[in-house]
Amino acid sequence: MKSKTQLEMEYGTCPKKRQARTDTIVKSLRDNYGHTLPDNKQYWAMCGRCSHEIGQLDDNCEPNQMIKSKLITPNQFHGVEIDPEIYEYNSNASQEMNWYLGDFHDVMAEYSNKHEFNPAIVNVDMVYMPKRGSSYFAKILQLLTTAKEAKEVILVGNFVMESRHWRSSIDDIIDGLEKQPCFQFSMHNGNWELGDQYYTYLGTGGDSTTMSTIIYHKG
Ligand SMILES: C[S@@+](CC[C@H](N)C(=O)[O-])C[C@H]1O[C@@H](n2cnc3c(N)ncnc32)[C@H](O)[C@@H]1O
Repeated sequence: MKSKTQLEMEYGTCPKKRQARTDTIVKSLRDNYGHTLPDNKQYWAMCGRCSHEIGQLDDNCEPNQMIKSKLITPNQFHGVEIDPEIYEYNSNASQEMNWYLGDFHDVMAEYSNKHEFNPAIVNVDMVYMPKRGSSYFAKILQLLTTAKEAKEVILVGNFVMESRHWRSSIDDIIDGLEKQPCFQFSMHNGNWELGDQYYTYLGTGGDSTTMSTIIYHKG
């Protein structure tokens, strides 16, 4: 079966994705902040396509799920997308949220340089396998280690573990991270702790993709 492109993905209609967000993001935010995030805290995500009808946000897309669970208000959501067509759909769907076109790391770095960066959570929801994903994730760890405003942060990393004939394990993620200078820097200079649970779930899109989630806490 041919895999769907990111433009074709409908994360809002996928119960597996919704459950994975509940088990990882919603749970971590509730454990740390209770019912609702403080007003000055931001929610940053590699957001994917959140609208399939022009001018309308999908039910149960990531920001909609977080708003419905009362964790955030729309203006606390900061969604970054690298695909211009997806960004166009998202930014037409709601003016209340903050949408950006660009690379997730670079957009957050820009906001940090402007002193407008105050994340409670950063969701690095990647479509990468551990080899590429660990190097990208380590870059974000370094940014959050050096960003002064990022004092208490939950950092969520999603990796593609199994796709067609490729298969990886959690050890591949951890081994991949440990090789990265950005990761070594972050572990020495930031107060990071790796959550003691990993989550694995079936991916969205009807193929045989498996995803794994790791969660770091900076405090
Ligand atoms: C797995 S989806 C996001 C799903 C969303 N977080 C959710 O919970 O429904 C990942 C999205 O990130 C986009 N993407 C991939 N690399 C990126 C990068 N370096 N910066 C920003 N977006 C990226 C992809 O085009 C894709 O739409």
